[in-house]
Amino acid sequence: MGRVETVQWWRDAVVYQIYPRSFQDTNRDGIGDLEGIRRRLPYLVDLGVDAVWLSPFYPSPMADFGYDVADYCDVDPMFGTLDDFDRLLADIHAAGMKLIVDWVPNHTSDRHPWFVAARSSKEDEKRDWYVWADARPDGSPPNNWQSVFGGSAWQWDAPTGQFYLHSFLPEQPDVNWRNPEVEAAMFDVLRFWLDRGVDGFRMDVVSFIMKDPELRDDPEPPSDLPPRSRAHPDVHGVFRRIRRLLDSYDPPRVAIGEIHEPDWDRWASYYGQDNDELHLPFNFTLLHAPWNARVIRRLVDACDSAVPEGGRPNYVLGNHDEVRLAGRIGPEQTRIAAMLLLTLRGVPTLYYGDEIGLEQLDIAPERQQDPWGRRVPGMGRDGCRTPMRWDDSPNRGFCDDDVEPWLPLGTGPDVASMDADPGSLLALYRRLLELRRKEPLLRSGRYRSVEAPPACFAFERFDGDRVLGVVLNFGSDPVPLPDTRRVRVSTLLDRSGSQIRSLRPHEGVVFDVPVGGS
Ligand code: NOJ
Ligand code: CA
Repeated sequence: MGRVETVQWWRDAVVYQIYPRSFQDTNRDGIGDLEGIRRRLPYLVDLGVDAVWLSPFYPSPMADFGYDVADYCDVDPMFGTLDDFDRLLADIHAAGMKLIVDWVPNHTSDRHPWFVAARSSKEDEKRDWYVWADARPDGSPPNNWQSVFGGSAWQWDAPTGQFYLHSFLPEQPDVNWRNPEVEAAMFDVLRFWLDRGVDGFRMDVVSFIMKDPELRDDPEPPSDLPPRSRAHPDVHGVFRRIRRLLDSYDPPRVAIGEIHEPDWDRWASYYGQDNDELHLPFNFTLLHAPWNARVIRRLVDACDSAVPEGGRPNYVLGNHDEVRLAGRIGPEQTRIAAMLLLTLRGVPTLYYGDEIGLEQLDIAPERQQDPWGRRVPGMGRDGCRTPMRWDDSPNRGFCDDDVEPWLPLGTGPDVASMDADPGSLLALYRRLLELRRKEPLLRSGRYRSVEAPPACFAFERFDGDRVLGVVLNFGSDPVPLPDTRRVRVSTLLDRSGSQIRSLRPHEGVVFDVPVGGS
């Protein structure tokens, strides 16, 4: 097996994703900022997460709220300054946490100086830093590739008479990773942040960076042949070089990749044949699955066994692109989700606000902010990006009360009210995170699922004959258990230490399994 790493902090980490626009405003523009995140660090310490991942805060025209980067090595004034960043990083480290930043390698903003130059003329030395192609004889785009945001992935550039590729918005032209100068420039970006001290990267749509060099058509759906517009096998070589760069730092930094790959073997291939590519290719399967015990068991079993020896599984239940967890599964099940996420083997990523059950908000058409939603009705992602609720003041502590927050705040619970309630969802997250820290089986124990009543998913974390059990009731009826269990933690936080013979509706428990059987 592959490398020997001296420090592998990420193997046991719980990652907390912050969407910077929505955490805490401090300069009265109704938009969250880096200083706001810094001021809220005590909350994260108290919660007990290990690493913070920040979605992009780089200078950007905000066509895709920062996923259209105009300068990879600075901070957008909306979010603060590089000094603010350095202060935030120093405080995160002083608090014993790690910082992971977003890196957007597949595309830049169309206002990035590289693209401005590339677009200026076919002869420009940066022309080949992007993917250009001639029209077909009938004037149509060079192939059938589709933008993830809808429509052709090709944009006609009249002044230079060619199309350029944009796998996302036209304001997000894809760079050409087959040009070694692009790789060198993008690696310089990584070095810029690594030298400042970041602990790793979350790499945006990172398998998209390599495409079919001949730009051949994608197979027409419903074909299950691999697409040609993304995830060309040459991407593995780039991942190995990224990994070498990260490993050259002491301690080595972590590579988390946004990978959408439904085929388990192809997904697992991104760990690298020798565990020498991504540490954690995101596993989004639970995010897209129907919330039902049988399906979740099948997906967890599949993930846990697909991960190569020496690699770590990982699980995601929410992010800034998807319907909020509470909106997808209903508020009663959010406790089951918390226990599931924090007791499975591997690295969980927690989306800010899910720990207080932030709901999916319906945003009125006139308040829609997400450009994707404005372009394609129904696709907007604002509903899962609403600001964090800290207290019961009119703007819920997110921004001053005489300032308009960039998105509405909703009327549900907030951190302060949950702080005051020892049985709250937030208290459950804290309790589970504490249990994870104290109980080595939850960090390094192996995983196996076990038979359970149909509404339940049950599994064990074990190491030799030491076993911890978890059973989760996905249903709204009580479920008798086959034998008596001694509760370590119930999702309702009210019966630690008791012996139980049944689960209540929507209840999950972590329990001790006596040596010699469950
Ligand atoms: C994935 C990001 O998570 C999403 O928010 C963004 O719109 C696309 N990549 C394009 O960068
Ligand atoms: Ca602000």
